[in-house]
Amino acid sequence: MFEVEKIRQDFPMLQQYPELVYFDNGATTFKPQPVIDAVVDFYTKHTSNVHRGDYPLSIQADRLYDQTRQIIAQFINCSEKEIAFTHNDTASLNMVAYGLRKRLKKDDVVLVTEAEHASNLLPWYKMVQDYGIRIEYVPVNRQGVVAIEDIEKAIHDKVKVISIAEVTNVLGSIQPIEQICKVAHQHGILVVVDGAQSVPHRKTDVKAMDVDFLTFSAHKMCGPGGVGVLYGKYELLQELDPIFLGGGMNSRFQSCGTMQLKNAPEKFEAGTPNIEGVIGLGAAARYLMDIGMDQIEAYEKELRMMFAEGVKKLDNITFYNPDNHSGPVTFNANGVFAQDAAGYLSSRNVAVRSGNHCAKILHEVIGTDQTIRASLYFYNTKDEVLRCLDAMKDISVENAIGIFF
Ligand code: ALA
Repeated sequence: MFEVEKIRQDFPMLQQYPELVYFDNGATTFKPQPVIDAVVDFYTKHTSNVHRGDYPLSIQADRLYDQTRQIIAQFINCSEKEIAFTHNDTASLNMVAYGLRKRLKKDDVVLVTEAEHASNLLPWYKMVQDYGIRIEYVPVNRQGVVAIEDIEKAIHDKVKVISIAEVTNVLGSIQPIEQICKVAHQHGILVVVDGAQSVPHRKTDVKAMDVDFLTFSAHKMCGPGGVGVLYGKYELLQELDPIFLGGGMNSRFQSCGTMQLKNAPEKFEAGTPNIEGVIGLGAAARYLMDIGMDQIEAYEKELRMMFAEGVKKLDNITFYNPDNHSGPVTFNANGVFAQDAAGYLSSRNVAVRSGNHCAKILHEVIGTDQTIRASLYFYNTKDEVLRCLDAMKDISVENAIGIFF
């Protein structure tokens, strides 16, 4: 039995704003008390740097920091030496793209889709500009889903990487990652998975999927801001070139300019890391695992299906992803600019995101670059869905403009 009311007690933001329907979880999530406590505990009881000090405080900080690597390894089913901590999902994706620059040759191809977030396109565009690699797009359907047959058709000798979100950030399309990896590996192609919108919501098993790289952010899974994860198969992480260089990641260097780097994952953690953030991420992953990722996924699916059924009945709404079973509900109110409609929802205490959501070529698929995205998490309730639907049915040009007068 999923006890949402009990879970809600853990979130001070939900207690602070009982009237607010927070449906912007795709952007960031609220933090439960155990995560807040872990960060405050570090500040109040353990503040010191990691991997540098020879005194008890610093050794305690080392333990707390390194423990998160074990927790995340358990969370996504890999070895702890395959986990590097970064600044966020975007940083992780940049690190993979630039890190592969010695492996990729001019005219090598990276396959992507038009449904990707900027963070999974712009690092590759830069590789196009600076190293002459090429990008090719695999088609997706109107719901943003890629077919494995289209991946197979898109593969040719020059394709070296497929870089794709497991769940897309606007339409919530679930991509067939396991099948993609199988096909890709038959051709010696690496698969990079942007897990920003999937890892927080469903059980992740990198071994079962056989992904080569997986990236995600702490703040979208109840953890602190400014922390991300870069998972890579160990031999690939060893091969990946770090893009940040400095203290903590080298074993020695000489005045003539030579340097010896540490092994992965340390070679990706230059400078003082976000220690409290990493510790908070560990608390967040533990919190999610205690609830159970399968339970979280099942509850969110039920909530989303109820939401979708309600949206389908609204005459004033164009619904872009009615057939997807995960991720946000994405829509427009007919004749109303998305931002005005979001403003109206806000006047009814419903927080959503409007605009292009950083997926600025998705309009080539869905025909509009302005949508409203209502993104749920496991602490949302059926009552909140009903309140959102009730407000959505009233969106009109008059109402949306009315909030300004
Ligand atoms: N990437 C986040 C989103 O999709 C910010 O809203």
